[in-house]
Amino acid sequence: MKARLITFEGIEGSGKTVVSKTVCRSLEEAGIVVTHVREPGGTAVSEAIRGILLDPARGEMDPKAELFLYLASRAQLVAEVIRPALAAGRTVVCDRYMDASVAYQGWARGLGESLVARLNASAVGGAVPDRTFLLDCPVAEGMSRGPDRREADGVAVRDRLEREDVRFHEKVREGYLRLAKRDGKRVVVIDATQALDEVVRAILGNLERLFSVKLTA
Ligand code: TMP
Repeated sequence: MKARLITFEGIEGSGKTVVSKTVCRSLEEAGIVVTHVREPGGTAVSEAIRGILLDPARGEMDPKAELFLYLASRAQLVAEVIRPALAAGRTVVCDRYMDASVAYQGWARGLGESLVARLNASAVGGAVPDRTFLLDCPVAEGMSRGPDRREADGVAVRDRLEREDVRFHEKVREGYLRLAKRDGKRVVVIDATQALDEVVRAILGNLERLFSVKLTA
């Protein structure tokens, strides 16, 4: 069976983490060997970069500096994990990937989609997803789900990007939907306001066709 690169995208609170974990379990139960990573992160270098990018104490960051850090993290992840995994026949599932830079830095930060697309192509060197699931929901709904990280006293911890205002997150959503409209063969929009089992069922149905295998939730 051909190894595939599958990515999950969406605004904050769209449920990517729990959905992708559930989907990975179904793939593994069907005998598909899976490497599951997240962006930014997945290697020692990329996790260190993640710390810089998401630390709220760092405050304002130049949009291009922010973009280059995401790209640096991505280049390392591709070289160290994604490319070797695919070469070894493992399917890779990645929570966020190159489309996040187009939506967040290209569209919401205003750097432009063409600049981000060019730099992305250089960072991933051909490791383009076979399928991308865009978990789409209104910003208000995503924000109400909130971050799943809590301080010891139960107070929600919002990272540097989560602290951006509603307008920023509306633009991120808009950026993602534009991408899906342009590249509808690769980017599949999933209604993330549905119950978790409905969301998972829709994704598994699509992956059954991609892998030509029966998948159960
Ligand atoms: P998350 O792992 O909790 O989703 O946090 C990653 C954050 O980084 C999230 O706010 C989206 C943002 N991000 C970008 O702005 N550009 C990117 O290229 C990637 C991968 C993530």
